[in-house]
Amino acid sequence: ADGTVEIPVVFNVIYNTSAQNISDARIAEQIAVLNADYGATNSDISKIPSAFQPYAAGNVKIRFKLVATNRKQSSKTGWSSELEEMKKSSTGGINATDATKNMNIWVVNSILDENGDPGTLGYAYYPESAGLWYDGLVIGYQYIGKTGASAPFNLGRTVTHEVGHYLNLPHLWGSSDTGCQTDYSGDTPVSPGPNYGTPSYPLNRVCGGISRSQMFMNYMDYVDDRAMFMFSANQKTRMQAVVASSGPRAGLRL
Ligand code: ARG
Ligand code: ZN
Ligand code: CA
Repeated sequence: ADGTVEIPVVFNVIYNTSAQNISDARIAEQIAVLNADYGATNSDISKIPSAFQPYAAGNVKIRFKLVATNRKQSSKTGWSSELEEMKKSSTGGINATDATKNMNIWVVNSILDENGDPGTLGYAYYPESAGLWYDGLVIGYQYIGKTGASAPFNLGRTVTHEVGHYLNLPHLWGSSDTGCQTDYSGDTPVSPGPNYGTPSYPLNRVCGGISRSQMFMNYMDYVDDRAMFMFSANQKTRMQAVVASSGPRAGLRL
């Protein structure tokens, strides 16, 4: 009645060792983190600097509900983000469960980049890929949930960040590595590139000769999990447009 949309979530866990076969409890923790972060009920929301409070999203009115967990053992020790082998049973993975109706999350032991190197925490597809066989998120098992997850990425916020991409949010510095590009949200200050670790506020950075106080505590930056705790109001508008009845991910609506 208040316009909240509930997204059905399917976890596809592909593991080699039993430690990589993350527990149902950890998956439940991750869903709880998503519901807190997207509902603005996260306990650290009180840390938003007062200068940014007028631009905070508040409740994004998108919720997440676990509908299935699929598990598969594999001898593979790494999974290429280019080949997307984790998403097809014919290449050792698990097929998506109707990607038009569900947000699929593949959990793998290691994500390999285009050079075959490990280290990527996660990645996701924008709504332009809605419903395709590879649509959804891929996340390293170390970064799911909280209990047993890998510090400093052990508060479940890698998934919060990747769901942001899935719902049409670029990084704060835009989609190009050059930075200082638009992220299509007028209330997130223009940024030259990622911030890491736990920056202290205020942090000013320059684009086009103009210095701006950076919203590094936004989920769409690269800071540590404990240093990110907000979406902006314009980001909420963009995400709501994606799941609206006329939006590219309308199929997710129950
Ligand atoms: N580097 C990844 C990406 O751009 C995820 C970053 C997640 N950050 C975090 N604090 N968990 O998609
Ligand atoms: Zn990202
Ligand atoms: Ca912006």
